[in-house]
Amino acid sequence: MNSHLDLDSRKAAQRVGLTSDTIVIRGGKPLNGRIEVRGAKNLVTKAMVAALLADTPSILKGVPEISDVHVVKGLLEAHGVVVDELMPGELRLDPSNVSSAHFAEINAHAGSSRIPILFCGPLLHQLGEAFIPDLGGCRIGDRPIDFHLNALRALGAVVEKLDDGIHLTAPDGLIGANIELPFPSVGATEQVLLSAVRAEGTTELKNAAIEPEIMDLIAILQKMGAIISVEPNRVIVIEGVQKLRGYVHTAIFDRNEAASWASAALATHGDITVGGAKQQELMTFLNVYRKVGGEFEVLEDGIRFYHPGTPLKPVMVETDVHPGFMTDWQQPLIVALTQAEGTSVVHETVYENRFGFTDALNTMGADITVHQSGIASITRRVPRRPLEQAAVVTGPTHLTGADVRVPDLRGGFSHLIAALAAEGTSTISNVGIISRGYELFIDKLEQLGADFELV
Ligand code: UD1
Repeated sequence: MNSHLDLDSRKAAQRVGLTSDTIVIRGGKPLNGRIEVRGAKNLVTKAMVAALLADTPSILKGVPEISDVHVVKGLLEAHGVVVDELMPGELRLDPSNVSSAHFAEINAHAGSSRIPILFCGPLLHQLGEAFIPDLGGCRIGDRPIDFHLNALRALGAVVEKLDDGIHLTAPDGLIGANIELPFPSVGATEQVLLSAVRAEGTTELKNAAIEPEIMDLIAILQKMGAIISVEPNRVIVIEGVQKLRGYVHTAIFDRNEAASWASAALATHGDITVGGAKQQELMTFLNVYRKVGGEFEVLEDGIRFYHPGTPLKPVMVETDVHPGFMTDWQQPLIVALTQAEGTSVVHETVYENRFGFTDALNTMGADITVHQSGIASITRRVPRRPLEQAAVVTGPTHLTGADVRVPDLRGGFSHLIAALAAEGTSTISNVGIISRGYELFIDKLEQLGADFELV
């Protein structure tokens, strides 16, 4: 598994022109300054796939320079889509000549990305068949695709499992259906949107995810000619249309990246203005940030996050589906919580294995205990499977530099923050993984005055 990660990390680093995937950080210095965030990884990659559904080109703006964008670009090109960069951050996607690609070709581009699963609906509409290789993604829990396959089956797809992946056909075309997800999965909701939008008839999706990135995807599909209504209680109704045209769209900002830099400001006693961040999509995060003792100032064109110099306070947080506290925010926040005065408890209820990164923090001097089952009864926003872990973080602890290895995207960023907050030198390997979702993070570290070098 480690050598697989190494390869992924090296490939990811290469895709965005990183010369090395090991970084040496001399920590203990506050991060101060301004950086910009652009389009959200969790929207941009899906918006690129949506372009496949049209019969004319689309233009996507605010595209970040992250390796996951390169992965989707490669996958689209393997399927005959012409992708041109009109200017930095602006892509033109022309689906006029969509064609089939083989497992090997898809695999070569996808690596461990889970994005190929979202190609199913668009390819079934355009070509009548789709191949999906074995899927990876960040190794946080098993990350199954059963919701996706069941939804596709409900819409009329025939799913055949082969040795090296999955082959899908739709002999009678995709047909609208009533679907209820067992859990408001982001990916499965997108799967239904991208598949039902050109299906014959109406699809009613119950227990849908309603994350801001999904709303932005719906906005894109509406620009393309779709009829989709978001109704109360997580119901989305999609009235199928025969044809869709290309869109012009500026992607919603990356709220996960913004929350990560906000936590970095807190953990390092710093002051970071995140240009492009907006309050509305971060309200839940901002509430917790304030409870921990972090300060923020909402500006016209961004948000300033800073440590006010007074002791940080412990919190109880439960990750949740939107509008709850997002699972991607807990890893960077936990680094800040190691500096709070008292005991914090973070429950992870979305993924079954997202606290692995805390081992490295403990090596650096943190006091974090992970309980495999929750330690308190918590109120549930939506019913879900009995999977939850709790991390108990006792602070404040003195962090010191260590040699650590990036396990996944968000865990990796929290290792970076911990190293920046720690006294002494840390060597972090596998940082290529971080470039999957954090645009130009090396340049941003430089802008914020971090003391480091790539080796
Ligand atoms: C997306 C985001 C990720 C975020 C997550 C939850 C992208 C690229 N990634 O991931 O940053 O953390 O939403 O907000 O947008 N599940 C199943 N079967 C399925 C699908 C999911 O059991 O077929 C489970 C997963 O294992 C997980 C939970 O449902 O426990 C939520 O997963 P999901 O919302 O689908 O996450 P992603 O779309 O993969």
